[in-house]
Amino acid sequence: MISPVDDFLPVRLKAVHDIAVKGADNLPSRRIIDVGSDHGHLSLYALVHDNFESAVLTDIHEAPAKRSEDTLRMYGYADRSKVYCTDGLDGVGLKTGDIVVMAGLGGNNMIDILGRVVKRDEPELLKSIVWCLQPQKSSDKLREYLFTSGFDITDENACEDRGINYIILKTVYTGVPHEFTLKQKYYGPVLLQRAASGEEDAVRYKSRLDERFAIAQRGDEEIKRMMEEQ
Ligand SMILES: C[S@@+](CC[C@H](N)C(=O)[O-])C[C@H]1O[C@@H](n2cnc3c(N)ncnc32)[C@H](O)[C@@H]1O
Repeated sequence: MISPVDDFLPVRLKAVHDIAVKGADNLPSRRIIDVGSDHGHLSLYALVHDNFESAVLTDIHEAPAKRSEDTLRMYGYADRSKVYCTDGLDGVGLKTGDIVVMAGLGGNNMIDILGRVVKRDEPELLKSIVWCLQPQKSSDKLREYLFTSGFDITDENACEDRGINYIILKTVYTGVPHEFTLKQKYYGPVLLQRAASGEEDAVRYKSRLDERFAIAQRGDEEIKRMMEEQ
């Protein structure tokens, strides 16, 4: 019999989960933090399927925070999870080697949340955290923020769920800002590599962006310059 926790993540959230937990066994913390948890399904899935000891869930609104709490309690994970009704990670202490997921939030919202954490926490702690981000929009601005604020994009993928394309990226703080090309900002540095080596999801995603940018460049100087980059 299939248990309800086996088969309930939509394609997008399953793709977020898969990239988030890749390599997680090597991290010292066995904790996943889900910012903007809403229903709490991602954390529940990770507690059931992966080797996490605990989950922290945050949501800025009371109703989704309550939904998260109900989900974890209903499946018997109340004692291994903690839900906060808060903005981003305000009031939530990070631990060395935590995995922090933000999925379904806008890129600007993610920039605000990351910016507050970078100001708040010591660089050594920040360097140990793995961030898995699935921005609903403004992925270009988010990448620019990451490049210029000392984050490296270590992994990136695209998925399609019910006709909508999503990107998911993994990033780690190094404290060292770096140069980037406009193509890396708009397409994603790892996605470009994946597309160049013929990976199906990345190729499909890139060709959708090619079409979008071919039109957008008519009214956007930066996109026009990006299209002219070699
Ligand atoms: C579109 S839902 C995504 C839910 C889930 N992460 C997913 O990907 O299916 C976005 C959730 O993030 C919450 N949210 C938005 N901004 C937030 C913030 N600054 N801090 C914490 N939660 C936030 C919203 O209340 C909402 O429940």
